[in-house]
Amino acid sequence: MKKTIKDVDLKGKRVLVRVDFNIPLKDGKIRDDRRIKASLPTLEYIREHGGRLIVMSHLGRPKGEVMEEFRMKPVAIRLSELMGIEVKYCEDCNWDVVKKVTSELEEGDVLLLENLRFHKGETKNDPALVEKLLSLGDVYVNDAFGTCHRAHASTAGIPETKKIPSVAGFLVEKELDMLGKILIDPARPVVAILGGAKVTDKIGVIENLITKVDSLLIGGGMSYTFLKSEGYEIGTSLLDGESLTLGKELMGKAAKRGVDFLLPVDIVVAKEIKEGTEHKVVDKSDIPSDWMGVDIGPETIQKFGKIIRGAKTIFWNGPLGVFEIDEFSRGTEAIAKFIAENNDAISLIGGGDSAAAAEKLGFADKMTHISTGGGASLEFMEGKELPGIAALDDKT
Ligand code: 3PG
Repeated sequence: MKKTIKDVDLKGKRVLVRVDFNIPLKDGKIRDDRRIKASLPTLEYIREHGGRLIVMSHLGRPKGEVMEEFRMKPVAIRLSELMGIEVKYCEDCNWDVVKKVTSELEEGDVLLLENLRFHKGETKNDPALVEKLLSLGDVYVNDAFGTCHRAHASTAGIPETKKIPSVAGFLVEKELDMLGKILIDPARPVVAILGGAKVTDKIGVIENLITKVDSLLIGGGMSYTFLKSEGYEIGTSLLDGESLTLGKELMGKAAKRGVDFLLPVDIVVAKEIKEGTEHKVVDKSDIPSDWMGVDIGPETIQKFGKIIRGAKTIFWNGPLGVFEIDEFSRGTEAIAKFIAENNDAISLIGGGDSAAAAEKLGFADKMTHISTGGGASLEFMEGKELPGIAALDDKT
């Protein structure tokens, strides 16, 4: 068990809080502020307990350069609105300036630093940058669940030094608790629904989940690689060629453990991925050579639905079709609805596209937990230790 903000004295302390405010922006406007909202309980708690907050995050992948489109300014504005206070924003990356601004903070003040990835040392976990960050704070809080799989200066580097108390924020605590419900003694039956494009991205997750779940339902782009490895012709559907043998192996492992490994039995096919294009439903054995799979078909939806309805624990990651296009979003929509309607089950949604899909389709409120982590939630499901969490102080 890791220490949390409840285990440290915050009064008058300069509290370095690593959050994951890596959010989608378009033309300087925030398109989804869920990650900001998710860290509010931690930020409010630190303020209420007299901390002086130095909030830090990355945004995008600017690769050590200052890039105007990745400045944190829109985030500072939104955070001010959400917290109902003026959040100070230090757009200067010069350490003398940063040091001065942070030293002037009073109890309850909140300062947002400029994008950490404007510094070359961040993604390299450079000890020189770690020391600079350490010099700003007395206590370190990690609430950036979405970035905990990265061993960067601000995630693993600071707590690894053991120079200042380093604890988890409420969001990290909640994510570990919720996602842990699949891996540790889950209520059965346990069903995992996995979609998304590439088998290679999900191998680790599938391997680990095979040892935990009762049923594994596969849809989306990666299902065609599995169908191909079973000998079906898949036309121009997405094929992850390198994973063909692996697909077979994974299905073999599932069978050995008595896990139901379900692939689509019927498929919506189209000639191209385009709004308004011609499409039809075919059996998995009848995909025409110049058509591609774009969604699961109605029979598959019913089959998957039956299993989801009977589940007590559900994990969903990845859309079942090209859900950005209305005609090809039926499968994803139906699955999200089945999950939302199962009130007896704990429903956990991995971040990224499935979180966006649940939100877009209006089912987000019905899920037990939607993770703020994309890659981080998948690595957690693989059973991997996340470096940003491993480095935090243990409870004694
Ligand atoms: C994410 O959005 O998954 C996290 O913020 C990590 O971002 P990264 O993949 O650029 O490290």
